Amino acid sequence: MLKKSWYSLMAVLMVAVIVLSACTTPVATTEAPPAVAKEVEVFSWWTGGGEAAGLDAMIKVFNAKYPDITFNNAAVAGGAGTNARAVLATRLQAGDPPDSWQGHAGQELIGTYVAGGQIEPLNTLYEEQGWLAVMPQTLIPLISDQGNIYSVPVNIHRANVLWYNPKVLTDNNVAVPTTMDEWFAAMETLKAAGVTPLALGEQWTKMHLMETVLLGSLGVDKYNGLWDGTTDWASAEVTKALEDFKMVLTYTNDDSTSLSWQDAAQLVVNGNAAFNVMGDWAEGYFRELGKAPNTDYGWAPVPGSVGVFQFLSDSFVLAKGAPDADGAKAWLTIAGSKEGQEAFNPVKGSICARTDCDKNLFGVYLQSAMADWASNTVVGSLTHGVVANDSWKSEIDTALGAFIADQKVDVFQSALVAACVASGPCK
Ligand code: GAL
Repeated sequence: MLKKSWYSLMAVLMVAVIVLSACTTPVATTEAPPAVAKEVEVFSWWTGGGEAAGLDAMIKVFNAKYPDITFNNAAVAGGAGTNARAVLATRLQAGDPPDSWQGHAGQELIGTYVAGGQIEPLNTLYEEQGWLAVMPQTLIPLISDQGNIYSVPVNIHRANVLWYNPKVLTDNNVAVPTTMDEWFAAMETLKAAGVTPLALGEQWTKMHLMETVLLGSLGVDKYNGLWDGTTDWASAEVTKALEDFKMVLTYTNDDSTSLSWQDAAQLVVNGNAAFNVMGDWAEGYFRELGKAPNTDYGWAPVPGSVGVFQFLSDSFVLAKGAPDADGAKAWLTIAGSKEGQEAFNPVKGSICARTDCDKNLFGVYLQSAMADWASNTVVGSLTHGVVANDSWKSEIDTALGAFIADQKVDVFQSALVAACVASGPCK
């Protein structure tokens, strides 16, 4: 009897142990964090025409190095980021930043994102990766504020390029112009022969054309002075430069408003126009179209800017409050690496920001750009974020839109003076 109740007690105890351990086991397993898929959202405007191909080449390097992180390509179409940057601004305002986005070295970065407290410093990453030794010393101040470095430049682009169709020029006995006056004479000849002298696209490409004409007409010192307040926007030289711009516009196609930069550039390589002023991403596009350098297209500095390299640099940032900061750092590591830049730039039509890329990976145009970057006088681009912050640039853009409609140089110049007072260094 006693023995039987002892056995029952033991049975009850064993059941209790089993039940208890069954209860405790799940507690032990739930302590391990649930597996979270790693992802990085990277925002840009590289969706086509040579640009997507460059990005894809860099994503390939990323995927090989970080197979466990999903690359979420959040590119929004539209040259120069006209659409993308509006989407980005809305997302930043809503507190929904992508982990990393494409920005431009210079005032766009410092005067917009840093000033707005929207991005994180990357000093630690620079130290870990040894980037200070391989990035151009001239670029570091343009991506820094108060001792902090804020972005990873992937490239150097040139803005002041005059692309031309060699056959169209030879057929019309026109030499490649080097001065404004030569350019006007050449375009007059072409116009008289029934050829579209200068292919042009939508509004941002007009600002791009304008900044190169300002440079060509004013020269380096006066051009630089526009952005630091030492050139008077109301001066006669600026009036002359704007008159030059107005004149240049008279040689362009009528349907510019409906053309993307790719459409306009394509008119040149297809032989439907003689010239196009566009940054050297156009070269990435020409190559994607299967066109050959020096046969289907030639290049020269925009007239008046021989010996000057008007530059911009695409550079990626780390969002403050990035949903996946580790993923973003992995992406930035690739964007700043030799392998990433060597994969990206020969396709994109830019040269490496890094100084140690293998030159032999680049075609004849980009090799000439490397030589010019090393030897020319370097100035910054307006349209692509170097010399003015977003607020100033947007006021210039509004004034430009009105000028394109009314063609009034005096009204345009007054608006530019006011824009410099409102958002720039002018008092
Ligand atoms: C620029 C950018 C270039 C290229 C171009 C045309 O602002 O820096 O990389 O994308 O726009 O879309």
